[in-house]
Order: sequence, then C-alpha cells, then structure tokens
Amino acid sequence: MSGHLAVVGATGAVGQEFLRVLEQRKFPFERITFLASSRSAGKPLEFMGKTYTVAELKEDSFKGVDLALFSAGGSISKKFAPCAAESGAVVVDNSSAFRMDPKVPLVVPEVNPEDAQQHQGIIANPNCSTIIMVVPVWPLHKVCPIERLVVSTYQAASGAGYQAMVELEEQTRDLLAGKPVTPRVLPHRIAFNLFSHNSKVGPDGYNEEETKMVKETRKMFHDDGIQITATCVRVPIPRAHSESINITFRKPISEKQVKEILASAPGVQVVDDREKNYFPMPMDSSDRDDVLVGRIRQDISQPDGRGIDMFISGDQLRKGAALNAVQIAELL
Ligand code: A2P
Repeated sequence: MSGHLAVVGATGAVGQEFLRVLEQRKFPFERITFLASSRSAGKPLEFMGKTYTVAELKEDSFKGVDLALFSAGGSISKKFAPCAAESGAVVVDNSSAFRMDPKVPLVVPEVNPEDAQQHQGIIANPNCSTIIMVVPVWPLHKVCPIERLVVSTYQAASGAGYQAMVELEEQTRDLLAGKPVTPRVLPHRIAFNLFSHNSKVGPDGYNEEETKMVKETRKMFHDDGIQITATCVRVPIPRAHSESINITFRKPISEKQVKEILASAPGVQVVDDREKNYFPMPMDSSDRDDVLVGRIRQDISQPDGRGIDMFISGDQLRKGAALNAVQIAELL
C-alpha cells in the first residue's frame, strides 16, 4: 500500500524490531524515513544493506508520507499522529494514546481485521500483553463464548523500552560481579527479582497495564459482557511475555476441543508435551512470530467442565508490538 513509509521512534526497541519485520516480510515501499528525537538526529541507521540518516521528528515530517508506524511513546503519538493523519498518512500507532478512542480501530489481525477498514487516519496497535493473550483466546471465544477470564502475566523488560533491556543485562552482570546496583530505568531492581508492573495504580487497585488488558480485550471482541481480571508482573526476562490464563466458558468445553481449536488457530503454536515437561518458555518464544500455548488442561476447580487453564508465551517486541503493527499495515 505504502509508497513513502515513515518509522517514528526508529531508534527504540520496537522501532528496531519494525526494521527487522519490514525486511523479513518484504513489506513494499518506495521510500522510507526514520524519525526519532533530536538526540538521534543525524545518526546513521542500517536498513536492508543501506545506510540512512535518522531525522528529528517535527510537525512537518509527514509531507508525502503514506504510512507512518509510530512507537515513540504516548505523548509523542498524541502530539504527532494527528499531524501525520492530517497530512494524508495512515498511522499505525503502538502507544496507548488512541486505543480506547471510539473513532480509532484497535486491531489484532487474527481477531478483528475488518475493524481496520473503518479507520479515519489512525489505527491503534493494542497493548503487548493483550495482543499475546487474545491471539489464542479469540479462536476459543468464537467457538465457545467466554464468561470470565483470569490472567497473570510474567512480562519482559523490553516492554519498558530498550534502556530497560540494557538495565536487566547490566544489573545481572553487576550482581554476579558482586557490585551494588541502583535502578535507573525501572523502579526496582529487575535482575534476580520481579515486581508488580511499573505502571500507575488506580483508585480501584489495578495498575494501568491490567486495566488495558480488560478494556482492550472487550473493545476488540466487541463484547462488554466478558469478565476479565488481570495481575501484571515484570520479570527478569529480556523480550518475551508469558501469561497464565484461566478461563470460564459459558458452556462446558473439553481439553481435547481446546487443543483442536488451538492446533489450527492462526498465529498460535501448541507446545504441550507433558511427558517431557516441555511447555511454552520465553527462551523459545523470543524472536518468533507465533504465540506458544501449552499446559492446556481442564480446570479441576470447575467440576461442571466450563473451566480451562493454559500457559502462553509470545515475543513482546514482535507479535506484541512491531509484527502486529506491520500486519495491520498489510491489511490496508
Ligand atoms: P531517541 O533514541 O532519539 O531517544 P524505547 O521505547 O526503546 O525507549 O524507544 C523510544 C523511541 O522513541 C526512540 O526511538 C526515541 O528516540 C523516540 N523518542 C523519544 N522521545 C522522542 C521525542 N521527543 N521525539 C521523537 N522521538 C522520540
């Protein structure tokens, strides 16, 4: 679709993954512009064997741009995505700035691709934990509607940006060398530790990440009746999120049915070897497109057969961010 493509936040963790995904998927474009802050302006950036120069993001950066992939944080999106849309570009925005705006479609191509066509210049890419959850949950919901879902996350450092990934590595190295560590990017020590997700906690006790998982899932499923509760936790893993998911369906469903549905679900790979005790791990889901799903079992606490437990793992930077955004662009 795109003649002139712009990548906003090109120097960041998701921005760099955009470049890999665009190259791997042979995304068609005639021209590409890389935008970041004034700190990066003028720096060289390698892409598909060529050296480009990063430009500073400005209000007039989008003249002639057809498609803009944004991943530079919510405040940058709020300010610049409307400029890009006004100048005629379609924006796929990775931030939370527009996700709950009723005029902005929120899209995971495996779930609600048709919503993308309703855009008015901006399409939102959902929260990373939400994307990874809905890829295996949607095909189950389609066959047997969900009444309630309980999710607990094990989220990688990459979700907090490139500097958080560097911090995990540096702290790990420093602690192993017996050196003291002081948190710099994340609020607490991440190496050899874990903590409740570093987003603001609201008056109801839920942090913003947890609230996003609830609201964004309902918006994409077009189902406000689905009951969801989430507990989001940051763990010392570089780039793949894992999640424990417990579902109560409206009607009984068997473990066998769930496995069959997931075996043919797009974007899902079942990894569920009880004999070898081999299940989804961030080590295996990192750098992969598919969300890995395993530990699929009947929930013994729901004797009426309506409960299913599973454990999933998916790459936060790929399906959780850059890949999903590029797949949205491909829908156009
Ligand atoms: P820069 O590298 O110049 O700071 P991450 O989420 O990995 O921290 O990446 C954030 C991305 O957003 C980076 O590419 C960063 O560019 C970009 N960014 C941050 N602040 C601004 C800004 N004020 N204007 C444009 N891009 C920004």
